[in-house]
Amino acid sequence: MANARRILGIVLAAGEGTRMKSARPKVLHEVAGLSLVGHALTAAHKAGVTDLAAVIGPDRADVAAEVGRLVPSAKVFEQRDRRGTAHAVLQAESVLAKGFDAVVILFGDTPLVRPETISALGEAVQGNNAIAVMGFTAKDPTGYGRLITSGASLEAIREHKDATDAEREIRLSNGGLMALRGDIALDLLKSVGSANAQNEFYLTDCVALARQRGLGASIVEVPEEEAQGVNDRVQLAAAEAVLQRRLRESHMRNGVTLIAPETVFFALDTVIARDVLIEPNVVFGPGVIIEEGAVIHAFSHLEGAKVGAKATVGPFARLRPGADLGAKAKVGNFVEIKNVDLGAGAKVSHLTYLGDASVGAEANIGAGTITCNYDGFRKFRTTIGANAFIGSNSALVAPVTIGDGAFVGSGSVVTKDVPADALAVARGHQITKERWAVSFRARPENVAKAKKDR
Ligand code: UD1
Ligand code: CA
Repeated sequence: MANARRILGIVLAAGEGTRMKSARPKVLHEVAGLSLVGHALTAAHKAGVTDLAAVIGPDRADVAAEVGRLVPSAKVFEQRDRRGTAHAVLQAESVLAKGFDAVVILFGDTPLVRPETISALGEAVQGNNAIAVMGFTAKDPTGYGRLITSGASLEAIREHKDATDAEREIRLSNGGLMALRGDIALDLLKSVGSANAQNEFYLTDCVALARQRGLGASIVEVPEEEAQGVNDRVQLAAAEAVLQRRLRESHMRNGVTLIAPETVFFALDTVIARDVLIEPNVVFGPGVIIEEGAVIHAFSHLEGAKVGAKATVGPFARLRPGADLGAKAKVGNFVEIKNVDLGAGAKVSHLTYLGDASVGAEANIGAGTITCNYDGFRKFRTTIGANAFIGSNSALVAPVTIGDGAFVGSGSVVTKDVPADALAVARGHQITKERWAVSFRARPENVAKAKKDR
């Protein structure tokens, strides 16, 4: 019953991130629409970790808020002085002391670790095996801790700065993630000393300490790509590229057609049903759900939106948070939709802004319609009934309701409610003066001007 194991995940997120050259802490920079620390938390959650804790830098209310937003049950600890990775983990001592089958330590700046790797690490610490380390073979291992092995057994991890020349030849490196058997984790962590090149309490020392006690240590090997951390914005972009490649492949394998996959950008949480077609140059921000058979035409941008079955979006459409398109609804080119329930089969085909509105089924919104939802202070709602027809270039001044089946004449500025099945026309009357242009041109001053210009 592997699932019954209680596993604690601890995310170390106290990094200074000075190389990001940013006012924001490193772990709040985003890839695939989610903060770096969010990736660590999400991967741990997907891996079946039962409890989560995070260790953050001093006075980082912003990082604490992000952890709380994503995992409200996570315990957040502050590391006042940066005294090493083992010292960081020990900040979570009160949670560690509760007793777990396994403790997995993750880094908040390593967003490419797959949930499978985290569960493998958690599973590996059983019986006599007290430690499992995520290892990888580095093309250039400079800076990484080296994995010192004897046959299949991991004997120690030597930090680059403490390693001998011979040890520095080893390319098998520590990827940072580590699992400890829960019953011995605190004991090992408290035994770590700081007599090393950096005067730090190294988490990695737990390996040799466990071996001294006759306990086993093992390696879960991953491709180098997975162990890549983010220290600057070049590495941030490299991580983004890897994540996007994975997301594109995963959506295609799940039955989504991407005509030009390399031009489509997903968020980690994008949910897309099968037989959806996505044309080139589409961007998905966080919180998008697309149902079966929908089509997203080229150059569209979606965020916090839901697109119903067989609905179509774009080209050049923008769906903002709260856009909820019913089945077979149509949102065409140069249309922006925010916080709108668009009924089944409703059409908003061209050049329109709808904000804070509900639109009934099969309604037709003409080109150039604008919901005037904001008076500079507050937002107001527009309600458009089923089968209503809004003529082109109308302004609907909210709060206002257009009843089911009602018509609004083109170019209207609608400020009062329109009952069901009524016609509302709110524009100047047309005046037509026969032959007016002829007499205008014949005015003496106009005749003289025309002659001079010739
Ligand atoms: C660490 C490992 C090294 C491994 C490498 C992989 C140790 C001692 N070394 O080295 O073996 O090859 O990662 O990238 O673990 N942190 C804190 N508080 C601290 C120190 C670190 O929260 O006092 C956090 C950092 O924010 C970061 C992580 O722990 O998320 C790793 O710290 P870092 O200083 O980058 O360790 P490395 O020297 O890279
Ligand atoms: Ca590092």
